[in-house]
Amino acid sequence: MGVREKKSVEALKLYKAARTQESVCREYGIDINSVIKLAGNENRFGCSPKVIEALDKKKNEFAFYPDFNATALRTALSEKLGTSKEKFIFGNGSFELLSLVGAAFIDEGDEAIYADPSFGWYVNVTTLNGGKVVKVPVNKDFAVDTEAMLNAVTDKTKVIWLCNPNNPTGTVLPGSKLKDFISRIRRDILIVLDEAYIDFIDEEENGGPYIDTVRLLEEYDNLIILRTFSKSYGLASFRIGYGIADEAIIEGLTKVKLPINTTFASHVAAEAALLDEEFKTYVVESVREERKYYYNALEEFGFTTVHSNGNFIFVHTGRDGGRIEEALLKKGIMIRNGAEFGFPGHVRISIGTHEENVKVVEAFRSVIGDIPEVKEGD
Ligand SMILES: Cc1ncc(COP(=O)(O)O)c(C=O)c1O
Repeated sequence: MGVREKKSVEALKLYKAARTQESVCREYGIDINSVIKLAGNENRFGCSPKVIEALDKKKNEFAFYPDFNATALRTALSEKLGTSKEKFIFGNGSFELLSLVGAAFIDEGDEAIYADPSFGWYVNVTTLNGGKVVKVPVNKDFAVDTEAMLNAVTDKTKVIWLCNPNNPTGTVLPGSKLKDFISRIRRDILIVLDEAYIDFIDEEENGGPYIDTVRLLEEYDNLIILRTFSKSYGLASFRIGYGIADEAIIEGLTKVKLPINTTFASHVAAEAALLDEEFKTYVVESVREERKYYYNALEEFGFTTVHSNGNFIFVHTGRDGGRIEEALLKKGIMIRNGAEFGFPGHVRISIGTHEENVKVVEAFRSVIGDIPEVKEGD
């Protein structure tokens, strides 16, 4: 190609999202209705029926541009979370909000620290803006190593990407540890607390409630909390997430955002979903039950599972994750090869319905004998 990309774009690797069900159908000749997609941490319990009702009621307004301030949704969230309306920004999923953080705050040569493995988009956003990614490996229990992250801070550090609970490992920093970590970060470093999976935190296992992180914003003007309607609310296709931060941070992000970046339908859907707490509780409790089902069922194969605070589990199989992924794909089951996250002996499985999870375990039973164990580190 004669036309060269920008240097920062040349340095970018294409982001690898989970493949689509259609591509699996085409490649393996499987009927779309029998494909079980557990590769993208979507919500297999669906969304609240109230979302569908609300959209139906508003269908005559679909021809108009949306309110680009998302006023109704902003008001509902600010009341629910007990914080000022001015502290919110909405995005085309938290993917976009992460990109806005990069565009507004990462300069050429800035360093951005993230735990490895964690959500891959942090790397793309940092690189695209000419920043340097500083990876800090998770500890032996797969938890984010906050002490090592603190040690990685230099005078060039500008952003810390903190995924809590962490995708793909499923670990969570308990509230006290999180608070301590934030308090020890210089105030000219932006801490991006990505809480996409907050609703799935296992409070019993973590010795009590998580903290109300929104309250931390009263003390820290260098913190942004990102949340999404894609996970516990089951609205991934609508593409709607939000950030909460000090007004000065929100102003910076707003400057680089498309004027109209979210849709009217997503506002309506999110607002209706927020009102149906009962549905969300059903989703979260089902995910908790099903995580336990997997912990027990996967022991049969000698697998070990990291205790998860997300709607997915990170499983050590001791075998080539790519071969496992391929063998399950032939049966129409989509999971993620741990090699994509730097852990080839692992797989990540999003939590499905009970029926789907039973099928996954049955599929493991029928394929695992043909996939040899590999030595650790191979
Ligand atoms: C940790 C984390 N952050 C952000 C996202 C992006 O979510 P969305 O753009 O759907 O809000 C994901 C999606 O899987 C994720 O795992």
